[in-house]
Amino acid sequence: MSRVVRGWVVSAGLAAGLVVALLVLALGRGGPAPAATTAAPDFARDVAPIVRQTCLGCHRDGGIAPFAFRTERDLANRAALVVAALEGRRMPPWPPSAASPQYVGEAAHTLDARERTTLVDWARAQLVRPGAARRGTPVGPPPAPPTAPRRGESLLELAMPTSYRPAAAKGSTDDYRCFLLDPKLTRDAFVTSARIVPGDAAIVHHVILYRIPEASVSRATALDGDARGPGWTCFGGPGVGGGTSGSPRGILDDAGWIAAWAPGFGAGRLRAGTGIELPAGSRIVMQVHYNLLGGPGPDRSATLLRLAPPSAHLTPLETMLLPAPVELPCRPGHTASPLCDRTTSIADVVHRFGPVGQTNNWLNVLCGEQRDTEVTTCTRTLNETTTIRAVAGHMHLLGRSIRIQVDPGTPRARTILDIPVWDFDNQAAKPIKPVTLHAGETVKVTCRHVQWLRDRLPAFAGQPDRYVVWGEGTRDEMCLGILTVTHP
Ligand code: HEC
Repeated sequence: MSRVVRGWVVSAGLAAGLVVALLVLALGRGGPAPAATTAAPDFARDVAPIVRQTCLGCHRDGGIAPFAFRTERDLANRAALVVAALEGRRMPPWPPSAASPQYVGEAAHTLDARERTTLVDWARAQLVRPGAARRGTPVGPPPAPPTAPRRGESLLELAMPTSYRPAAAKGSTDDYRCFLLDPKLTRDAFVTSARIVPGDAAIVHHVILYRIPEASVSRATALDGDARGPGWTCFGGPGVGGGTSGSPRGILDDAGWIAAWAPGFGAGRLRAGTGIELPAGSRIVMQVHYNLLGGPGPDRSATLLRLAPPSAHLTPLETMLLPAPVELPCRPGHTASPLCDRTTSIADVVHRFGPVGQTNNWLNVLCGEQRDTEVTTCTRTLNETTTIRAVAGHMHLLGRSIRIQVDPGTPRARTILDIPVWDFDNQAAKPIKPVTLHAGETVKVTCRHVQWLRDRLPAFAGQPDRYVVWGEGTRDEMCLGILTVTHP
């Protein structure tokens, strides 16, 4: 499995086990990590466990980092880079700023002072005495994804019926395709983890699994039957009509998502005691966004679900979406393209993706009119008691920063996500200590998008500024807060 970074929602047991292992390790060494003046840390004993836990999610074969850490040699050969990356706090990447809360499981994805010192001391020693290390020592395997079923749970693998070669409309490099998967459930179940396995990671930009209630299955089957080849074209959502999520709540309050995968997402096992309802007779739509800038395909993506029976009495999780419009004008001096005109730009998005291209206009109604601005926001007032349990942001390539706040402008104000420098490759949802809000309280998303990033990104080579709005294409933009919630 490539590009899937690491399991974010690490099982409590696994995390606890690691903490214990690290404690044992630390105690075994007796006191603080050895200083540079004493013996350098031992690779197998001191360094490899930290690298396994904190680096291999990305630095492995097929991972998103440019090189893999297979053996001691792979690190030793880059010792100077390792020192610089660790001291510059660039590695491991951790997008949230200090304004963000401490996330559940954060310790497993970041380095504490002792771990950082251990890695830096070891790497420095390689610079002074190159060749001294036992270079072939393997780093060892990354922590296994937490997919082993718990008592009463079963595993279910669902793949696209056949492989699919994506095709984009003229002038577009994006294909959104929905594939209908049948879990063949004869009784209600809860999904407790969903691992998405992209077939061709070079072209799979994101994957969302939607729950299709029994009442909408015939519509989905008809769409599937009408289109040529496996699945059907589906921008925005599965397009099976209202009530897609099967929830009495609106689509924004309960999006009917079972799982989402984008670069940086892992194989999340949901927190113990929670699950996503999947009633008997439901189907699953796997929406795959193909970015054809990455190659021609074909692709056959799959998902591995863990299911718990209704007797597990889990608290149902829902996905609440918090979108804001994007209204980014062309830079002064970069206004030559006709697409610098907002109306022309929206018409172009509608041409490529259909009515969903109007999303920006609709979001201006929901969030208040916003125009010609790098920064856009949306504040929503909750109409029932809601507990936020995990938080993520989603933007595309011109996104610069994103923030999600609760009750802004009141004494109860707090920030639950603050990413000052957006990293498209690192969009993982982060579990938080539950925050319970009551009807009348607010949640706010704020995004900043910038045109100058197009000068730096290969995806925009030769693409002049345009008025950037909300759109489904990789080169269009989004501003989306994603909250995993329960009621109450
Ligand atoms: C979330 C994914 C991810 C994790 C985790 C990660 N890296 Fe990286 N690493 C990258 C990417 C991607 C690059 C390529 C440069 C970039 O895009 O920033 C990189 C580049 C590097 C480089 C090259 C120098 C540089 O700064 O670009 C070094 C050295 C490095 N990583 C070391 C580590 C070490 C050591 C760890 C663990 C403590 C680690 N990385 C964890 C993704 C990751």
